[in-house]
Amino acid sequence: RNGSDFIVVANRLPVDLERLPDGSQRWKHSPGGLVSALEPFLRNHKGAWVGWPGVPDAEVDDFEEDGLRLHPVTLTGAEVRDYYEGFSNGTLWPLYHDVVAPPVFDRTWWDAYVKVNHRFAEATAQAAAPNATVWIQDYQLQLVPAILREARPDLRIGFFLHIPFPPTELYMQLPWRAEIVRGLLGADLVGFHRPGGAQNFLWLARRLLGLEPTRGAVGVRTRPGVIQVGDRAVRVGAFPISIDSAGLDTLARKRETVARAQQIRADLGNPKKIILGVDRLDYTKGIDLRLNALRELLTEGRVDPSEVAMIQLATPSRERVEHYQRMRDEIELTVSRINGEFARVGHPVVHYLHQSVDRAELAAFFSAADVMLVTPLRDGMNLVCKEYVACRHDLGGALVLSEFAGAAAELTSSFLVNPHDLDGVKNAMHAALTIDPAEGRRRMRALRRQVLTHDVDRWARSFLEALDPEHHH
Ligand code: G6P
Repeated sequence: RNGSDFIVVANRLPVDLERLPDGSQRWKHSPGGLVSALEPFLRNHKGAWVGWPGVPDAEVDDFEEDGLRLHPVTLTGAEVRDYYEGFSNGTLWPLYHDVVAPPVFDRTWWDAYVKVNHRFAEATAQAAAPNATVWIQDYQLQLVPAILREARPDLRIGFFLHIPFPPTELYMQLPWRAEIVRGLLGADLVGFHRPGGAQNFLWLARRLLGLEPTRGAVGVRTRPGVIQVGDRAVRVGAFPISIDSAGLDTLARKRETVARAQQIRADLGNPKKIILGVDRLDYTKGIDLRLNALRELLTEGRVDPSEVAMIQLATPSRERVEHYQRMRDEIELTVSRINGEFARVGHPVVHYLHQSVDRAELAAFFSAADVMLVTPLRDGMNLVCKEYVACRHDLGGALVLSEFAGAAAELTSSFLVNPHDLDGVKNAMHAALTIDPAEGRRRMRALRRQVLTHDVDRWARSFLEALDPEHHH
């Protein structure tokens, strides 16, 4: 049968299968930045998507959705535990995020990772037309490029990592470090968010496999680096991801969104300032530290509890992984401490939602927020801060952003903070809350110029052009 000419391979499909208590099931939008970035692009380009439907033991046939061909990969309960919750999110996620939580090295998890990567590669080999372009995504699938190349040398294979690639000193802890680097080198092009990540990877390939880069320059504006692997040239470069900026801008300008934003403000009791945090509930996001910063500002009387309301939206994520459970408890404790000390009846200071909300509602939250807090300890890019900026056509609002988010390199007119420096975070929050409106507009205008001209389409195009220069995307 005919295969697809363009395939995205990611751990998750863009939709998640949800099993309802009454035994029925339905599809819903998958969480996370990867899906929200890639999905609009792929729908416009009529490609195929290989991925997991998000629940164990889901045996689903290939299906078509909005012009997108979906190829579900089944994972058993044990594989979800060992490959997804275990190796992907208990080993690689903390290791790649500068070990902000201790990574666990478990051989059973590694075996499951190898096995599942083979399954994704097989599903892709079957779905791909001769000479197709395959674009593999993220840390869950780093062995797929090499396995796929073995089976289908005709394919053009790209790989993109959506999370940071850590320094060599940290990476060397991983017992399976060489296997993973070899897996990635099966691609024709390996992409990272930041030049530093690409550089870390080049150093690692040299240190572990003795592969000297034939061209070292890596960077957004320079040409990718090149490693010669046998008779193949593997290119390595930085491609900062972005969002559907124009789409969000349009959504934020809609009458319904504007009205909903006003409603949110009214529901909060028309506070002078609304502070907002929007994250997957993840220990890398620094939700706890921004709450602690707020608490100290309130305690010191630098922020008046009757004048501010903070909304923290924490989307449920990886809830069976232990460190996530602990972080959730800690955050919820801090929220209730703040409210216990500073709320009045009917007027909590922190409004905490452990829920996922849809795009339109999110746009209304962004439009209502006077101060947006994005304070990860480490983040590959972070798209939430770009989404906030894209929604502020009114040039209102102020962004407090961690230096350790990839986006910090682009959003230099935000209030940049070192999230480990609590006093610095407090001062930045205070400055953002009391900013002069003209200065706020100046900053927001600069931020918007960057976000509106560097959207996800440009990102995908630049990656695919580097992967396949003769082909026009
Ligand atoms: C991050 C990762 C993605 C992942 C998403 C949601 O953005 O880079 O690969 O899909 O988080 O996490 P989850 O574990 O729910 O897929």
